Amino acid sequence: MERSLVIIKPDAIQRGLAGEIISRLEKKGLKIVGMKMLHMDRNRAQRHYAIHKGKAFFNDLVDFITSSPIIAIVFQGKNAVDIIRQTMGETDPAKASSGTIRGDLGIEIGHNLVHGSDSLENASGEIDLFFSADEIVDYDRELDRWIY
Ligand code: RTP
Ligand code: MG
Repeated sequence: MERSLVIIKPDAIQRGLAGEIISRLEKKGLKIVGMKMLHMDRNRAQRHYAIHKGKAFFNDLVDFITSSPIIAIVFQGKNAVDIIRQTMGETDPAKASSGTIRGDLGIEIGHNLVHGSDSLENASGEIDLFFSADEIVDYDRELDRWIY
């Protein structure tokens, strides 16, 4: 089973959409194995988005993600990385399909509500940036036999 890091971004928390976003991912069949609320500092934000350092939008991105609290979640499931990206929709909510989180709930690329790891390799590093090993909780879920 794959694990992926999801961040409920500041705009989603401020708009009262955290439950809606978590619910969509849960209903898809993914299992929550770690969750915490925190206010990201600039150091953690720069490390999380390190691949975008030097791009025109980098400073705005760091300003935004540190502007208000976020919820970090580790979701587990078969193909979790790709399934989460599909459930989120394209980066720009204006281009994201209806039925996706960003397509249904967002308008601007800089306020796109949710982050999901873009590869299994990056997921592992991103999870380590937010969670220690003992903060990931593995457990059996009865309903998984109806999903898989
Ligand atoms: P994320 O990392 O937040 O899940 O988003 P993503 O993979 O869909 O998009 P990515 O390319 O990693 O970009 C990270 C965030 O930077 C902002 N962005 N702004 N103005 C722009 O052209 C631009 N491009 C990207 C977005 O908020 C995006 O989520
Ligand atoms: Mg990304």
